[in-house]
Amino acid sequence: MSRSARTASRCPDRCTVDDARCRSAGRPARTHARTKNAMRAASATHRRRRRDGRRRRAMPATSDVVCVLVLWCVRGTKTRSERELRPGNMEAFVQIPVNSSFFQQNVKLNLRQKSLGAPRARVARSVTLRMRSWGVRPGGVEKFADELVETANKIASPGRGILAVDESTKTIGKRLATIGVENTETHRRGYRELLFTCQGLGEYISGAILYEETLYQSTRDGRPFVDCLRNIGVIPGIKVDKGLAPLPGAALAHETWCTGLDGLSERAAAYYAQGARFAKWRAVIQIAPGGPTRQAIFENCYGLARYARTVQDQGLVPIIEPEVLLDGDHTIERCAEVQEEVYSILYNLCQQQGVFLEGSLLKPSMTLPGADSKQQVKPDVIAEMTVRTLERTIPAAVPGIMFLSGGMTEEEATINLNALNSRPRKGPWALSFSYGRALQQSCLKSWMGKDENVRAAQEALLARARANSKASLGKYVPGSEPTLDVTGTFEAGYKY
Ligand code: 13P
Repeated sequence: MSRSARTASRCPDRCTVDDARCRSAGRPARTHARTKNAMRAASATHRRRRRDGRRRRAMPATSDVVCVLVLWCVRGTKTRSERELRPGNMEAFVQIPVNSSFFQQNVKLNLRQKSLGAPRARVARSVTLRMRSWGVRPGGVEKFADELVETANKIASPGRGILAVDESTKTIGKRLATIGVENTETHRRGYRELLFTCQGLGEYISGAILYEETLYQSTRDGRPFVDCLRNIGVIPGIKVDKGLAPLPGAALAHETWCTGLDGLSERAAAYYAQGARFAKWRAVIQIAPGGPTRQAIFENCYGLARYARTVQDQGLVPIIEPEVLLDGDHTIERCAEVQEEVYSILYNLCQQQGVFLEGSLLKPSMTLPGADSKQQVKPDVIAEMTVRTLERTIPAAVPGIMFLSGGMTEEEATINLNALNSRPRKGPWALSFSYGRALQQSCLKSWMGKDENVRAAQEALLARARANSKASLGKYVPGSEPTLDVTGTFEAGYKY
């Protein structure tokens, strides 16, 4: 209808706005009433804005200007507010009163959390509000939210991954035995010193997971290991679980649960004070006839969620490791099925416990056929199945997925990681590595416990770290970095 025609036909009802501007004139009664109500609301808003505008022009503007400047300083640069805060566009913001809810929510909160940027502050804010809505207390997560996000993102930064050197005293003993070195405190310290003083490692490695003994150790000349790691740009982390134990009442005798929740809060606070900034907890699920049972899945996922929330309260980023073992003769399809079930239950329990996903990392196994399976699968199939499993179950809020190597050879683990990063995917997470065995085999074999081999061992470590760094970007050329690991280190019922 043309404007003149609308003006000509009179509104059948009495609008609060000018009848001549009633765009519903001549329309069915219901449409007319709806449009008229919307116009009434619009004109009320207009009147309120004009009134507020008059009031603010009369106010002294100092506090408002301070507010604008604070707002400018504390908010990040890519926000809508910042775009609107260009000098030519100041007026709109000079009108934010300090006691307005906008100021309270955006400025006071940021100041309290000493935010470094708006996106992180907004994430923290949204997560703590969400926790309240679930009936979970935000607790320490609110205090550490920004730091947790920053640490998790640094660890999952492009082209970098984790060196897992958290073998228990017994397990490192097995490794040292393969090169004929006795399992003494001096030898364990010597080996770890070699790793943590490797110049250039920080280019490929963002974090190192340590065993408790190692976190408190120093180099031969007295430099604490945590300082050595920081000097080469590697964030120290700590294994906090106390190992696997048989699952009471389990229908399958081999099923386990992961111990270590008692006193975890206090231990996590002490580890943070010693310099650790992330933690690891390894729960194990085994595929077997009749298993894994629901009891084992729930128990292990519950422990992971409880641990994650507990360490976040103390400022440590939790690495959540639900390892589905390679043991067994199952197919890759069966592995995917079990992983989907485990991860879905896991993240449901994480939500119940109030785990702050943006400040956490996942450490899963890749989706693979069992070690005794006859099924032959190529890296691109492994990549396809692994990505499909993750996309079906892992929330986009998790910044990084850092795979374990699980007994694959060094080169196998690198090639599979490269395949994972060479295909398109919907999931936004970084896909990188947190390898133990697949980063250390060549290094150990080059060292052989001799001082004169330290440099060669460091070169071997750097080579595998560089290979995996390239693989995490989908740029690894198979065979382009040396390896001395030809057989792999798969071991049934592996304990860390
Ligand atoms: P692997 O890479 O040797 O499987 O171990 C990584 C790890 O940290 C297991 O908890």
